[in-house]
Amino acid sequence: MRNAYIAGSGFYVPPRIVTNDDLASEYGIETSDEWIRQRTGIEQRHFADAGTTTSDLAVHASERAIEAAGIDRREIDMVIFATLSPDQFFPGSACFLQQKLGLCDGDDATFVAALDIRNQCSGFVYGLATATSMVRSGQHDNVLLVGSEIHSAALDLTTRGRTVGSLFGDAAGAVIVRATDEDRGVRAWDLGADGRFADQLAMKVFDFHNRPYIATDEAGNGVVPVDLLWPIMEGQVVFRNAIARMIESLTNLCEKEDVALGDIDLFLCHQANLRINQMVQNRIGAPEEKFFNNIQKYGNTTAATIPILIDEAIQAGRLERGMKVALVAFGAGFTWGSALIDW
Ligand code: COA
Repeated sequence: MRNAYIAGSGFYVPPRIVTNDDLASEYGIETSDEWIRQRTGIEQRHFADAGTTTSDLAVHASERAIEAAGIDRREIDMVIFATLSPDQFFPGSACFLQQKLGLCDGDDATFVAALDIRNQCSGFVYGLATATSMVRSGQHDNVLLVGSEIHSAALDLTTRGRTVGSLFGDAAGAVIVRATDEDRGVRAWDLGADGRFADQLAMKVFDFHNRPYIATDEAGNGVVPVDLLWPIMEGQVVFRNAIARMIESLTNLCEKEDVALGDIDLFLCHQANLRINQMVQNRIGAPEEKFFNNIQKYGNTTAATIPILIDEAIQAGRLERGMKVALVAFGAGFTWGSALIDW
């Protein structure tokens, strides 16, 4: 049987580190290291400098994943890009990445399919399900799947926006989803969404209810009211739903594959809040050593969290061939998803 497995991974974070204390001292936000660390586990995040786009970060992560997979970039036959912070409103960032990777250059240009996934924090899991389906169906052999975000450009980094502003960081993670005849790889997934909560975690800067979609002044320049400019979040609603849906999704996943939660060797959970993951771990009764978290260093990097976890877990010797791995994520929409991989 034709299977799809993760043949290589890589990630990239921009060099500038912003600690919790920096948010107070450099940005003047009324916050503290103690508050952020206690509620979220976050200690620092990376912010990209102005001029850097989401696809720029993705290029570095992709090149590392391509190298780790031991393939030539010309072997990539599809690019899937998960992000909530695309380079532009349109076209999708997968097209920018394809071009920046040089896939459109020269006589051997490949002009492969390029697809954006707009599922926020569960974008990588939705993307993995899509990439696996493409590979298993025989349509593609080597799918480059990237999760990349520049959050720092669209965070209200003042005291007014501190609840959301202290959570997020910039980063990219990438994997190559590759065809194999070996008995391994992505076994199953469980995806879900609950659009009743679409307004509870959202960014409404482009409001297509309006004509035109952004109000204009007399000179025709767009004018955006401050409450539309930044992301909005009902933090406690998100917190509660994240725990419930992640547990539900993991349970569904295990039922589908007829495995017990106790059979999972490693859980790689979306990194939104360390306290969310600790509650998931406690409620499913899994030992702490089966969970691998890195939110402390990067904050919430949305679609990039899981591929970064994969790469760091491999580098740390926590993820090895033969292990049963569960990925699980929850985010805006609300959307959620999990996937089971025999590594
Ligand atoms: N530093 C200091 N104080 C802060 C703060 C910060 N960074 N952020 C918020 N506060 C303040 C609030 O202004 C509020 O003050 P008030 O009581 O004077 O009004 C107080 O802390 C409590 O705020 P609240 O929003 O009720 O805190 P909380 O306990 O819900 O924690 C989150 C906030 C964001 C940490 C928490 O709700 C959470 O993690 N939710 C999930 C978020 C998430 O995962 N989002 C991404 C999903 S993919």
